[in-house]
Amino acid sequence: MASIRILTGSVYGGALMTARKIKEELEPEGHQVTVLEAPTLKDITSTDDAILVCTSTTGQGELPPNLLPFYTDLKDQLPQQPGRPFGIIVLGDSSYGDTYCGAGDLMEEALYETSARKVGETLKIDALETLEPETKALEWIREWIDKI
Ligand SMILES: Cc1cc2nc3c(=O)[nH]c(=O)nc-3n(C[C@H](O)[C@H](O)[C@H](O)COP(=O)(O)O)c2cc1C
Repeated sequence: MASIRILTGSVYGGALMTARKIKEELEPEGHQVTVLEAPTLKDITSTDDAILVCTSTTGQGELPPNLLPFYTDLKDQLPQQPGRPFGIIVLGDSSYGDTYCGAGDLMEEALYETSARKVGETLKIDALETLEPETKALEWIREWIDKI
């Protein structure tokens, strides 16, 4: 059974709801899932749970305000997490062009700098195509959970 910390970043609630659905899906199977709505660095340095980022993209390829302090501290301090598994689910809108799903790229780059180990491909969920991000996320999580 896996222990997972989900770092959420959300402006309008879509990414947060997606994270909560993942928790609802996995916990009955015996996995332990913590959804963090205002994550701090200590939330990850105090455990060795697998990390799942579930964030939307705002501004011009930026992180939502509730995830930004975590990101800034992570970049400043770069606590080393060699081999620690992480995955990324990012919500965006392809009509934003170059900044499409940019928040996922920012988190990926920062986590790589801590020597964490990415598991699976980033799941990008396009608001132009998908009205229910949780449906895609629940499909993706089945594969991810088997790989961590
Ligand atoms: C003001 C604003 C800026 C946005 N900027 C981007 C962006 O740069 N890139 C992108 O891919 N999506 C962008 N989006 C789309 C959101 O990421 C997308 O609608 C997402 O599903 C919102 O998720 P949330 O409900 O968790 O906030 C933007 C949306 C808004 C309203």
